[in-house]
Amino acid sequence: MREAIHNLEASKIREVANAGLGRDDVLAFWFGESDEVTPEVIRQAAIDSLQRGETFYAHNLGLPELREAIARYTSALHPAVDASRIAVTSGGVSALMLAVQALVDAGDEVVAVTPVWPNLTAQPAILGAQVRTVPLVPADGQWTLDLAALRKAVTPKTRLLIVNAPNNPTGWTMTREEQQAVLDHCRETGTWILADEVYERLYFEPTLNGCAPSFLDISRPDDRLVVTHSFSKSFLMTGWRLGWLVLPPALVDGIGKLIEFNTSCASVFTQRAAVAAIEHTAEITPRVVAHLKQCRDTLVPLLAALPGGQVAPAKGGMYAFFRLEGFGDSLDLAKRLVVEAGLGLAPGNAFAPEAQGWLRWCFASKDPQRLVQGVERLKTWLSKQ
Ligand SMILES: Cc1ncc(COP(=O)(O)O)c(C=O)c1O
Repeated sequence: MREAIHNLEASKIREVANAGLGRDDVLAFWFGESDEVTPEVIRQAAIDSLQRGETFYAHNLGLPELREAIARYTSALHPAVDASRIAVTSGGVSALMLAVQALVDAGDEVVAVTPVWPNLTAQPAILGAQVRTVPLVPADGQWTLDLAALRKAVTPKTRLLIVNAPNNPTGWTMTREEQQAVLDHCRETGTWILADEVYERLYFEPTLNGCAPSFLDISRPDDRLVVTHSFSKSFLMTGWRLGWLVLPPALVDGIGKLIEFNTSCASVFTQRAAVAAIEHTAEITPRVVAHLKQCRDTLVPLLAALPGGQVAPAKGGMYAFFRLEGFGDSLDLAKRLVVEAGLGLAPGNAFAPEAQGWLRWCFASKDPQRLVQGVERLKTWLSKQ
C-alpha cells in the first residue's frame, strides 16, 4: 500500500460509534445527516424512472436535463451560470475528490482552513500533497478567520486553498468581505480555490436569496475557482450519493474524463430524482431550513446553560460545536458519553488538532425533543462527575 494511505488517520467519529456497538439505546447525533426521510416527490421520481427502465449508463457529466436544472437553480441564487459549467457527481465527496484529482499533484502544497470535515484534508493527502492548515480562531463565542494568517500561509507556492463555509463542524460562515479578500489574494498568488458550499442553503441569517455568501457571487467564470455542492443536505438526500461541481470552462473536459475513470456517471434514476428535487425546491428547502433553525435554537441555549458550557451559535450548517470546561480530550469524552450516558457525539479533534476538547452535535433531528432528551442525558452524566 502507498505510504500516503498508511498514514491516513482512521475516522475518530467511527471510533466513537464503535464504542457503542451492539447498543440500541444510544441517542446518536454523531453523523452529519437528518433523520428525516427524503421527500415523497423526490422518491417518486426515482421510482418512475426505474419503472420506465432507466437502468443504463449515462453521460459522464450528467443528464443534460439535470445540468440545465442545476444551472437554473444556481443562477437563481447567484450570477448566471451556464449548464456547460456544471458536472454532476456521485455525492459531494466525489465532487471534492474529482476537483482535487484535477488540480493537485503529489508534492504540491495545499492549504486548508480548519477545523473542517476530515475528508477535505484527507483527499489531497491521498494524492501525496502536503497539506497545511490555517486554524479558525474562537473569539467571543464565535469562530473567526484570521485573514492575516491566511494571507501569510497562501503564497505563490500554494496550489490549492480549501475553504468550507458554512462550515462543518463550527458553523462558521464567511462574510462577503472575507471572500473578496481571499479571492483577491489567490488571484495574486495564482492559487486555486476549492470552495465547499454544500451548506449554502442551510443558512440562518436574514438574506434576500436564502443563501450564504458564495464565491460564485463575486468571481468570474475563468477564475481559478471550483465550487462543490451536494443534494444531501438541503434536499434530505444523503443516501442517494449525488452532488455537483461548478467549474471554470477550461476544467470541464478534464473533469468529464476523471468522472469516466472514477465512477463513469451518476445513476440515471437518482438524477431524475434530483431534477424533481430542484423543481420542488421552493416547497422543500425553506421548510428544511426553518426546521433546522428551530433545532439549533432548541439545542444551543441548552448547551450554553450547561455548567462550563461554551458554544458558538452556528450561522449555518447543521451542527452545534461546543466544549465543556474541565474536559480536555474530545475522543476520550465522546467515548465515555457513549458508554456511560448513551449519548453519541463526534469528537472535535476529528476535525483538527486545535479543536481538541470540543464536541460536535448534529442537530438535524426530525423531532427536536430528541435533542432535549440528549441534553438531559448529558446533564445527568455531568452531575455524577
Ligand atoms: C463540508 C462537507 N462537504 C461535503 C460533504 C459531502 O456530502 P455528500 O458526499 O453526502 O454529498 C459533507 C458531508 O457531510 C460535508 O460536511
